[in-house]
Amino acid sequence: MNMPVRERIWKGEGTHRVPYWVYTDDGIYQRELQRIFGGPAWSYVGLEAEIPHEGDFKRTKIGETSVIVVRGKDQEIHVLKNQCAHRGLEVCKQDYGSNRTFQCPYHQWTYRLNGDLSGVPFIRGVGGQGGMPEDFDRADHGLTKLKVATRNGVIFATFSPDVEPLEQFLGEKMLKLFDRVFTGRPLRILGVSRQRIPGNWKLMFENIKDPYHASLLHVFLVTFSLFRADNPSRTEMDSTGRHSALISRRGERNANTATQEMASFQEKLELHDPKLLDIVKEFPDTATVVMQTIWPNLIVQQQANTLATRQIVPVGPEAFDLNWTFFGYEDDDDAMRARRLRHANLMGPAGFVSLDDSEVMELAQRGIHCDEDAAAVVEMGGRDRADHNHIVTETAIRAFYGYYREVMGL
Ligand SMILES: [Fe+2]
Repeated sequence: MNMPVRERIWKGEGTHRVPYWVYTDDGIYQRELQRIFGGPAWSYVGLEAEIPHEGDFKRTKIGETSVIVVRGKDQEIHVLKNQCAHRGLEVCKQDYGSNRTFQCPYHQWTYRLNGDLSGVPFIRGVGGQGGMPEDFDRADHGLTKLKVATRNGVIFATFSPDVEPLEQFLGEKMLKLFDRVFTGRPLRILGVSRQRIPGNWKLMFENIKDPYHASLLHVFLVTFSLFRADNPSRTEMDSTGRHSALISRRGERNANTATQEMASFQEKLELHDPKLLDIVKEFPDTATVVMQTIWPNLIVQQQANTLATRQIVPVGPEAFDLNWTFFGYEDDDDAMRARRLRHANLMGPAGFVSLDDSEVMELAQRGIHCDEDAAAVVEMGGRDRADHNHIVTETAIRAFYGYYREVMGL
């Protein structure tokens, strides 16, 4: 089944066909871990509001590598590889907490919040016997420190010394949309949820880069016109094609010629509690939805008044974890906080909208798995990779695979 990577050939120059082995092949997956998650890219690791005080930490992953995100002295944020410099143990065993130091349970090597090694038991031996060699220097044996960048409360990290500055990495167009939600207003965490989806991690990105499906699959989006092909919309990419955004404005519920082709449109469906969708305008532009995908592992969600980050963590070629962090702003009033939580019912593992996505990603993986030599057809909206001023398109998927092929050398 799994041939070496060198035998995998992506036929043709375009990205309007995507070979199914990119979702199943272990050699491809190992290369992704190395070149994408371990390569020159800024991976999302969390929000500053998750670790407000000195010593607060969060454990997460970049690719399959466990890392600790911790607030150290002078409010500085460190991202450390969760691997003892002695024998490789994970030194942090909790997802969230607060610590003065990190101590390995095995031989009690102890690290400061910035990753420096502060203590090694028996470093000079016991009663003149044993101990570390004379030239052993604690300064050489700290936890591996990743390069960190923060912007308006969002934390990114990278293993690569060669990555461009975060702002440049995002590019002007995507930065503007990022700053639309992350304005610098302090954030407040409203809740987290997690799910494991039995599908390749790229299917998650494709899902949010594919506005075409939303008008067909999602009863909630279509029926209440939250995101629908006949609404004024745009699909945008950065200059590399790796990041993208779907931008749209809510339309009227009315049936029309477009809704005739939408099997999910249910004209008579009514909410028992209309407050579920009591959208309040809060951004300067007219968009009511902006879904942004940021290479290699972040989705920024603004749909109605629910805001969230979704972090993608691959678990082998055929599964991934999706970590949702719902947030609002520190200065939201109580009504807005309650509204954000109500609107959050659309999203998350059991969300009225995103539940459908989890199911189709699982079905996609199961189908793909049956014949990895076949290929996906990605031609809606044309075969180009340009921005489109509508959402009846798969252009952002084509753009993503343009950059992917470059990075992966495929
Ligand atoms: Fe969807």
